[in-house]
Amino acid sequence: MKILVTGGAGYIGSHACKALKEKGYEVVVLDNLVYGHRGFVKWGVLEECDLSDRAAIEAVFKKHRPEAVMHFAAYAFVGESVENPSKYYYNNVAGSLNLFDVARLNGVRHVVFSSTCATYGIPNSVPIHEDHPQSPINPYGKTKLVIEQMLADYDTAYGMKSVSLRYFNAAGADPESDIGEDHNPETHLIPLVLDAASGRRPQITIFGIDYATADGTCVRDYIHVTDLADAHVKALEYLSKGGGTIALNLGNGKGYSVREVIESARQITGREVPVVEGSRRAGDPPGLVGSSDKAKEILGWRPVFGEIDKIVEHAWKWHKKRFGNYK
Ligand code: UFG
Repeated sequence: MKILVTGGAGYIGSHACKALKEKGYEVVVLDNLVYGHRGFVKWGVLEECDLSDRAAIEAVFKKHRPEAVMHFAAYAFVGESVENPSKYYYNNVAGSLNLFDVARLNGVRHVVFSSTCATYGIPNSVPIHEDHPQSPINPYGKTKLVIEQMLADYDTAYGMKSVSLRYFNAAGADPESDIGEDHNPETHLIPLVLDAASGRRPQITIFGIDYATADGTCVRDYIHVTDLADAHVKALEYLSKGGGTIALNLGNGKGYSVREVIESARQITGREVPVVEGSRRAGDPPGLVGSSDKAKEILGWRPVFGEIDKIVEHAWKWHKKRFGNYK
């Protein structure tokens, strides 16, 4: 079975390509390489194409005739989405519209979509379940919510079935270090902490120490990227077996504070991590922890790398492969 993976040259998409290939699927990557990396396309063919170019998407579908789509391609910098929403609505929403239309007109019935816990906004209660109200607080989250809604309407009208996977904090790297996190600019906590541990950056700044959490720093539900990739393959299998349109959380159901992540990095790297206590970052909810019970029940999915130390260990292995041993 041939799967089209948009954003397959990116962080989570490339891990999904590896997981698909290991399960015997054929992979075609569609990526504009704005943030993706040519070198991450190791488990399929690359079609360099932008989702704004409907004719080019059509040509890819005619050439490869994929039977299903995994849709990762999106811009995902929360801060930038506030400053430049136009970029986000065009690329994420209009791009998805082009993709879904070309897909349905070419007979694709199944879509697995990369959504986010950012569609919930500030939670009323944790752990967050899928029926929690969705009121995103930034354009990035709003674009992802619109796409979920588009997919629901496309099922009603055209019978296109989809699984929207709402990730919590994607983290870690391929255990074999074939691929890993490589954002430019990097904004995510774990790679920044490892940069501070290795001396590539002078320090890590903690964004706020006065939250109403156990140690005053924000709590997040970190989920290993390889576990995420596995859930995507399982979502595809669920659709192949006749499963209906659904949205599922993907997290570990366990939160770690910023200080706990830094402490884990100290242990795993055996190095000091210079820390500066800074002010809060706008738009950061104090705690985001998800319940993934539904994904476990419906997909039979089980995170394998649930502990923060495993996530940091694999991220560190990837960091050393990329940058060598600093200091
Ligand atoms: N943090 C710091 N210092 C840093 C970077 C991050 O203290 O230098 C803190 C943040 O304040 C936050 C935690 O570390 O409390 C995690 O921050 P990340 O930027 O790694 O991740 P976010 O929780 O902000 O964002 C993630 C995804 C987004 C998604 C969001 C949903 O990366 O794509 O979850 O809330 F939108």
